[in-house]
Amino acid sequence: MHNSYQYRDGEFYVEDVPVRKIAESAGTPCYIYSYAVLRDAFLSYRDAFSGIDTLLCYSVKANSNLAILNAFAGLGAGFDIVSMGELIRVKRAGGDLSKVLFSGVGKTEEEMRAAIEAGILFFNVESVEELRLLNKVGLELGTKAPVALRVNPDIDPKTHPYISTGFKKSKFGIEIGRAVEVYEEAGSMEGIRVTAIDAHIGSQIFELTPFVDSLTKLVNLADDLIDKGVNIEYIDIGGGLGISYKMDEIPPNPKEYADVIAGLVGGKPYKLVLEPGRSLVGNAGMLVTKVLFLKEGTAKKFVIVDAAMNDLIRPAFYESYHEILTVSGPAKAVEKVDVVGPICESGDFLAKDRKFPRVKSGDLLAVMSAGAYGFAMSSNYNTRPRAPEVLVKGGEFRVVRKRETYDDMLSGESIPEFGG
Ligand code: LLP
Repeated sequence: MHNSYQYRDGEFYVEDVPVRKIAESAGTPCYIYSYAVLRDAFLSYRDAFSGIDTLLCYSVKANSNLAILNAFAGLGAGFDIVSMGELIRVKRAGGDLSKVLFSGVGKTEEEMRAAIEAGILFFNVESVEELRLLNKVGLELGTKAPVALRVNPDIDPKTHPYISTGFKKSKFGIEIGRAVEVYEEAGSMEGIRVTAIDAHIGSQIFELTPFVDSLTKLVNLADDLIDKGVNIEYIDIGGGLGISYKMDEIPPNPKEYADVIAGLVGGKPYKLVLEPGRSLVGNAGMLVTKVLFLKEGTAKKFVIVDAAMNDLIRPAFYESYHEILTVSGPAKAVEKVDVVGPICESGDFLAKDRKFPRVKSGDLLAVMSAGAYGFAMSSNYNTRPRAPEVLVKGGEFRVVRKRETYDDMLSGESIPEFGG
């Protein structure tokens, strides 16, 4: 665990602020992020890749709060976006639009136009139809849209099937075997300027071999394309580096990752682009929740808390594990429990059959490693307002997103009056 998380005098701290103090001020459930942890994650990437000409584009979908984007912009990051909404966020956060990549299998014409007008670095194009539409938009705007083709290298990233994206059978990218042909078509389009090659094989990847296999295929393709006279200035290898969710897990660090990559792209004529999301923010966030009730059945004991699957869907969706710490000092795990939320679904759990300390109503718990795909995937299911987000920097904290109100939640709805 990063040294910004510590127990001091029996209290859990984020940097120099007691978690209890934030929970009392912002209420629970609430997300808390540490600036120091995300900064260190970014710097460890930057230092690891300092020997290679690299652009680090933070993948906005992992955590798109304006304060987080602004923090990364301040550290010099570019951004990997997948929607108009994310483009607007990056603009509002003060991000450098010339360092933005636009990924995703289903971009709309409106999104393409806005991104070209914003002057982004390039689009990661995922199909021939998308390429043709982008060409049309480029022509209409009297410009050439900068393009990478996202190729699908058919690699098993050895992670959860829902977050594996580089298989032949997955919906992502253009089959690598067809890439040259599609690059040739792109080269003949007046509204397109080919500039790069891209792949992204999945997320929460713990082994370096899949990255090496994917990059090897990309490098071979890039070299082949360059021989054919295609302009390849960047090679974008996507995101996907895993993080530790369990205390004893040791993911590959950016330095090991950079070393194997340097072996493959060192001396090549193109720049490297990375799109990390989780590994920049995952360990920088926690979800703080309060124990509401304890319930002891004959078969199970439940700790019922005020955060639910609408706040953090990862355990329900991917059966993922998040460490849960007691805020009022470290405590020994003594009994097996399920930590569950108030939502009317059996899938609404934060931990299952977890060896847990004895807790009581009113206790605060910190669900760790919730900085990536936590708030970003939250919803209003069961008409629950989304939790506030708080950013800590040193001894200070600020609410960077207010808790939603009931009026916020209902503001777009109306009861219709029909003529008949
Ligand atoms: N680039 C592309 C094109 C992506 O699709 C993604 C993530 C990334 C970069 C960033 O990957 P990362 O470095 O964060 O692994 N909701 C899931 C993860 C979904 C990942 C989607 N794509 C989860 O909670 O585990």
